Amino acid sequence: MPYYVTTPIYYVNAEPHLGHAYTTIAADVLARHMRQRGEEVFFLTGTDEHGEPVAQAAERQGLEPRDLADKNAQRFRDLTEILNATNDFFIRTSDPEHEAEVQRVLQQVYDNGYVYEGTYEGWYCPRCADFKTDAELVDGNKCPIHLIELEREKEDNYFFKLSAFQEQLEQLYADRPDFVGPGVRYNEALSFIKGGLNDVSLTRARLRWGVTVPWDESQVFYVWFDALLNYYTALSYAREGEDLTDRFWPASVHLIGKDILKFHTVFWPAILMAAGIEVPRRVYVHGYLLMGEHKMSKSLGNVIDPFRIIELYGVDALRYYLLREVGFGQDGSVSPEGFETRYDTELANEYGNLVSRTANMIGRYCGGVVPEADTSSPLAADFDSARERLCAQIDAVELSAALDTIWQLVRRLNQYLQDEQPWKLVKDEAQAGRVPAILYAVAEGLRVVSLLLHPFMPDKTATVLAALGQDSFGLDAARFGAVGGGAEVGEIAPLFPRIESPTPA
Ligand code: MSP
Repeated sequence: MPYYVTTPIYYVNAEPHLGHAYTTIAADVLARHMRQRGEEVFFLTGTDEHGEPVAQAAERQGLEPRDLADKNAQRFRDLTEILNATNDFFIRTSDPEHEAEVQRVLQQVYDNGYVYEGTYEGWYCPRCADFKTDAELVDGNKCPIHLIELEREKEDNYFFKLSAFQEQLEQLYADRPDFVGPGVRYNEALSFIKGGLNDVSLTRARLRWGVTVPWDESQVFYVWFDALLNYYTALSYAREGEDLTDRFWPASVHLIGKDILKFHTVFWPAILMAAGIEVPRRVYVHGYLLMGEHKMSKSLGNVIDPFRIIELYGVDALRYYLLREVGFGQDGSVSPEGFETRYDTELANEYGNLVSRTANMIGRYCGGVVPEADTSSPLAADFDSARERLCAQIDAVELSAALDTIWQLVRRLNQYLQDEQPWKLVKDEAQAGRVPAILYAVAEGLRVVSLLLHPFMPDKTATVLAALGQDSFGLDAARFGAVGGGAEVGEIAPLFPRIESPTPA
């Protein structure tokens, strides 16, 4: 079945930070892994450009919203590229094709009788582009996420009859226990629904920066409905002259952060039902990257710049660190110290050293060629069961668990070398004959583990695989013993060289 994975589309009201990089990296790991399995994959990311957050940020900077959007959309595109993300399309909600498709779908919702005129009054956070209930406010009338004072807003606009989908949504959750993952987020979404759904505002009367409502051109659509629809509209124009909707819809998985759970697990399926479109297969919710105890966010001013880390350490180290340090699905703290520790102890010492030791020994003891040997190594069973486990973990979007499965193989290989000590055996005439089989096993293990690791660290693993004579990345080849000896092992420069940590500015 084709595999369609998405990231949230990022607000262009500010520059990208590490939190945005996190979701894109995770989605790229899924996309790359599924391609390794031979699946047909579509991977979408992009930018969310309409609404108050952008209009207000533009005003603060003395820019037109479109100019701010152009500038920051380019930064997000640059981020996507520097992260080595293999997205098939980059959507911008200011694309005219997207706008036309939003109008078409929401007109359908209107025609189906799920829209009515009303008056809205409530606490509105312009940064969230969302109304808050009294229970959600903190410190009097502040937004719980952005900690800014909110104002009460009142306006006439159109409402979406979310309440009409109470039963259908409960049924969806009953039928599909994996609609939302991890389980704790499924429960959160379901209890929100069971708490009783109120209708929501679908349009904004005061704002100009948005998609015009086709049945009342004095209004624009509320940015969240315009934004959510990106996942669907992109397929209609991502590839020139071709409509990919039938092939890839419904999406396999929408990856999101927990801050935008309600929109994706309640509003989104409901608006699709109202338009008569199939709902996605799954929404998977990850946690926050924290700095100390606080969510990393532009408004709290505690952000790490991903461009800078990549410039210093390379993109693979960052991809690895984020998925290793923070259990995917949970919150977790990140820090420059934590990053450096994992860089030195795991990347340089465990994987990097394994690679250079293996290449050196094959150079010195085997004339630089992976020896031909019996493939029935004691390592084979561990590697083959790990591959199965990894695929199941990726299917369940358990990315950190998947990475741990792989890392145990890296450690298994180091342990094997430590136990066998081929550098000692070569000096002992009675034992030296065992060395080729040992080095074959390590080289073969390294080949398999590098294939499994490829979606997480595409550049470094490609270097290792090329040195081992493996130039394709399909998972079919990731079986221990699938390749015999004979590869000429080239020189491999240190994969993770020591980096002097920068002096704080
Ligand atoms: N534009 C909306 C999403 C619309 S999707 C139809 C939005 N944009 S955002 O730029 O504010 O955030 C997008 C996503 O960035 C979050 O859901 C989350 O995936 C990611 N993150 C932003 N800060 C983050 C952390 N500190 N930690 C982890 N992820 C974070 O919301």
